[in-house]
Amino acid sequence: MCGIVGYIGNRNSLPIIIDGLKHLEYRGYDSAGVSIINSDKKIYSFKKAGKVSIMDDAIDKDFYTGSIGIGHTRWATHGVPNDINAHPHFDMYDNIVIVHNGIIENYKYIKTRLIEEKYTFITDTDTEVLANLINYYFRKTKNFEKAVRMALIEVEGTYGIACLCAEEPDKIIVARKGSPLMLGIGNGETIVSSDASAIINHTKNVVYLEDGDMAVLTKQGFFLKSVEDKDIFRNTEVLDFLIDEIEKGGFDHFMLKEICDQPETIQNTYRGRINFETGVVKLGGLEHVMDKLINAKRFIITACGTAWHAGLVAEYMIEQFCGIPVEVEYASEFRYRRPIIRTDDVMISISQSGETADTLAAIREAKKFGATTIGVVNVIGSTIAREVDAGTYIHAGPEIGVASTKAFTSQLMSLALITLMIAGEKKTLPDKTLIEIAQELKNIPEKIKHMIDMREEYKKVAEVFKDTKNFLYLGRGYNFPVALEGALKLKEISYIHAEGYPAAEMKHGPIALIDEYMPVVFIAPKDRTYEKIISNIEEVKARKGRIIVVASDDDEQISSYADHILRVPTTLPIFAPILNVIPLQFLSYYIAAARGCNVDQPRNLAKSVTVE
Ligand code: M6R
Repeated sequence: MCGIVGYIGNRNSLPIIIDGLKHLEYRGYDSAGVSIINSDKKIYSFKKAGKVSIMDDAIDKDFYTGSIGIGHTRWATHGVPNDINAHPHFDMYDNIVIVHNGIIENYKYIKTRLIEEKYTFITDTDTEVLANLINYYFRKTKNFEKAVRMALIEVEGTYGIACLCAEEPDKIIVARKGSPLMLGIGNGETIVSSDASAIINHTKNVVYLEDGDMAVLTKQGFFLKSVEDKDIFRNTEVLDFLIDEIEKGGFDHFMLKEICDQPETIQNTYRGRINFETGVVKLGGLEHVMDKLINAKRFIITACGTAWHAGLVAEYMIEQFCGIPVEVEYASEFRYRRPIIRTDDVMISISQSGETADTLAAIREAKKFGATTIGVVNVIGSTIAREVDAGTYIHAGPEIGVASTKAFTSQLMSLALITLMIAGEKKTLPDKTLIEIAQELKNIPEKIKHMIDMREEYKKVAEVFKDTKNFLYLGRGYNFPVALEGALKLKEISYIHAEGYPAAEMKHGPIALIDEYMPVVFIAPKDRTYEKIISNIEEVKARKGRIIVVASDDDEQISSYADHILRVPTTLPIFAPILNVIPLQFLSYYIAAARGCNVDQPRNLAKSVTVE
């Protein structure tokens, strides 16, 4: 949510900052801006509502040539997205300029106090308040570092900040609390960013800041201290992804690339973690909590959005194969409802970004009560990955499209591996079944590839429905969460209203919506609920609904019920969601593309939701 880039070194900072902002744009794209310290040691700012490219086209590149600068791409929280509310923000004396991710919760109180001190404001943002607060302390101390420290101690809420000071124009000060920030360590230069994708073009060596960390960057390097002025040390880590992974690679959109990447990403999730001959799974990051896992009285799964749907699938898997009760919670609800948490509970938190504020808060709540916390996370080194007691990375690689696709299938694969590992240890599954599952797991990438090769078939169905106003998605058992995910994918990128339901629930309300205009997508593989789903299809057919069915390759009977069929290869129920969601990803992608929607950056959304 919002992206920060800053550069200090010997090169022209503007192109580096703009390139970084373009890589960060998936985090927010309401407005963008930069502040550069030119060779006259003065700070010059430029900002524009809209995408980074609008700012990039409008800025005078011959003028902004300094080698120290900060930039921001915004997802609005306080104040409408316009030029004025765009970051960076100056204090009223044009001394401090700041870019900020997060929310200053007590900004109104601080603003009132500053107004009493004769400070004036020109924007509606909490960030401008912080710039003025830093300046307020700068006027008292005449020391930039001290002023930032004193201001941050007063602030309640979350922040990742980078700021410059006109009176100390040789440095950038950065700090974080609840909003990610990292330093890229180059040769004679430092790049600060909220996300590794803005750094990877320049260096692979990074230092992840932790909550409460502050760093002062100069051309000579940087030093780290806590906001409370205590010495701290952070290791330098090496980024493990390739530049290609954050480029479109010839596809029209990142989303399409990421859908098509799934044969490889799924393989990356399980590679080296399962023995196909014995069915034994080893997940290194969970080994030291194995006792907790097999003796857990209950699993609580917390997540948001797509990751929550993956959690719902895991509920079916873990209860069926491990015999341990599972509760799946929206992280945002869990944190505020005084949940009962015991020390023998294990919380599994699922998050692509590893930065989702609500999921992180749920983990902190569980830790407070002594539960064991486990992360199923994509972004390496993210806050959730670092705060949980143990975890497993899904290894899906950077996901840039705002609509999650490859992360979802890799989350499902990771959760299947966790399930098999626990079932193997607890002996809740016969070896024969474990081996059978492991053998089928090996076939999954090839089966996904088969669907990718026939994506034109899915596209034909999408073209029929591109002007539809509403959609229903229905599934049962393992495929009920797939129905939810299919509906979420469609609504977030095409803005078509869509709902997912357990198929049998239809009779309890949604059936009233069915008429000849309503497309209903049934997820109906040949499993033990097949006959039931066929009855549900008949009910819709009787009311003239338009029937689209995700059906097994070998299901011949289905053509007598369906108006359109999205074929999927057959598999075991535990892997069915991984395959069945893929035609739904394509359906939503092609519908959105046909409607001319901005598929990778849908309106109002941000890739990682680091505010409540
Ligand atoms: O990064 P996370 O997995 O924690 O994000 C959770 C949701 O915000 C995310 O899945 C969101 O729903 C996506 N836009 C879905 O496509």
